[in-house]
Amino acid sequence: MSWTSRDHTTPPPHPGASGLLDAGSTADLARQLDLARDLVTTAVDRAERPYSGATVDQLRRVVDAVDLDSPLASTDEALDELRRVYLDHAVWFHHPRYQAHLNCPVAVPAVVADVVASAVNTSVDTWDQSGAATLVEQRLVAWLADRVGFDSAANGLFTSGGTQSNLHGLLLARERAAADGVPRERWCVVVSERAHFSARRAAHLLGIALDAHGDGVLEVPTDGQGRMVPRALGRTLQSARLRGLHAVAVVATAGTTDHGAVDPLEETAGLARAHGAWVHVDAAYGGGLLLSPTRRHLLRGLELADSVTVDFHKSWFQPVACSALVVRDRELLALGRHHADYLNPEDDGAEPNLVDHSLQTTRRFDALKLWLTLRTLGAAHLGGLLDRVCDLAAATREDLAGDPDFEVVGGTDLSTVLFRYVACAPGLADDVNDAARARLVADGAASVARTRLDGRTWLKLTLLNPATTREDTRHVVDLVRRLAADATASRTLEDAR
Ligand SMILES: Cc1ncc(COP(=O)(O)O)c(C=O)c1O
Repeated sequence: MSWTSRDHTTPPPHPGASGLLDAGSTADLARQLDLARDLVTTAVDRAERPYSGATVDQLRRVVDAVDLDSPLASTDEALDELRRVYLDHAVWFHHPRYQAHLNCPVAVPAVVADVVASAVNTSVDTWDQSGAATLVEQRLVAWLADRVGFDSAANGLFTSGGTQSNLHGLLLARERAAADGVPRERWCVVVSERAHFSARRAAHLLGIALDAHGDGVLEVPTDGQGRMVPRALGRTLQSARLRGLHAVAVVATAGTTDHGAVDPLEETAGLARAHGAWVHVDAAYGGGLLLSPTRRHLLRGLELADSVTVDFHKSWFQPVACSALVVRDRELLALGRHHADYLNPEDDGAEPNLVDHSLQTTRRFDALKLWLTLRTLGAAHLGGLLDRVCDLAAATREDLAGDPDFEVVGGTDLSTVLFRYVACAPGLADDVNDAARARLVADGAASVARTRLDGRTWLKLTLLNPATTREDTRHVVDLVRRLAADATASRTLEDAR
């Protein structure tokens, strides 16, 4: 029996053994990591499809059958249970036919670093809880800022994801408007109609013009590729001004969630500045282009931003969670500074307390995984991997453009493919595409996403797995074709009755 999983009545096998990490328990840690390694490597090797196809009810029965008040007799048993409860029905992002959302297969060194960070349990908040981890994070932030094109005045933080990074960016924008004396009734935020919903939500959370002017978020139209139209942005800013509103921030997106489009960053920044607005660029998805050997130019103008979101857990192949907000000027980041007597009082001396600026207090050392990835695989390698999936998206769009059964949205900057089955009566197309996607989910052999554009249903491939080939995308498209044709046939038959 392992003392880490004893039941309530069994005393620890030796005095002082608590099941927690200490100098005496490292042999047990090593043994359990070996077991975990075997478990996860076997599961990854055996995953024949992205998902088992189990239904919610089936899985709920498995999960609910576990008696959480009765620990198992050994780690081996507990891990076997964990396999049944979790791994047998995990959604496998490393599988080449997982092509649905913005999830990536992970860099192996990053997983290793995550284990180390978990075992040490550093909290990157105050210097006295973090030590060198603070410096590692700061070094990476400075490195990232340099890649963005900011100078040494820049600063930033790791966050839990794009949602938090966007919230933080807009918080700073709001604080600056407040510091400039703009009354809150005049605040608004300008986003493109294709911006991620987290930008709109952040504005709501920040109370931006919530009472006086509806939701305080003004939407700018996009072109057919999902890019913000600069002239429309100019009109939106102008009409906001005429209404007495002040644009606290303009949010540009570098890599929209559906189209994978990069907004025109230079024009957007120029227009925003002319209206006194903070420029936040949500590069949660497109931030990976910073490393691309062939596509870095798509981010031209990023250096004009005040704040930038980059999600390493999307296009940098890092495990969740790993994101950063990088800010052009450390004085701007300091707009969100806060102090607590028990933690980081203002007279705390010269040591860096990253909690001064963070929205989180206790914070995982997520920077470590990126560090180890860069120190082993290297940045150029990651950029090459992203290029590969962008190339695959272009090739897949080409396939679809030549296929009369499908309509495809042409052109994207990143690795999404938007398409829909159209070999049916136009009035049936939404229903048929919905049905095909539902059948795929139920089956689990492949995974595609679904979205709505211009009031119609579209299917979406988000290609983030460099191991996915053109054969894989063709296979998935053929699966969709077959399922959609079946759905068309059954609906046509029903109509005929
Ligand atoms: C463009 C964009 N921004 C922000 C987010 C939110 O990121 P996260 O899920 O890491 O919070 C997403 C998520 O897909 C996104 O596509």
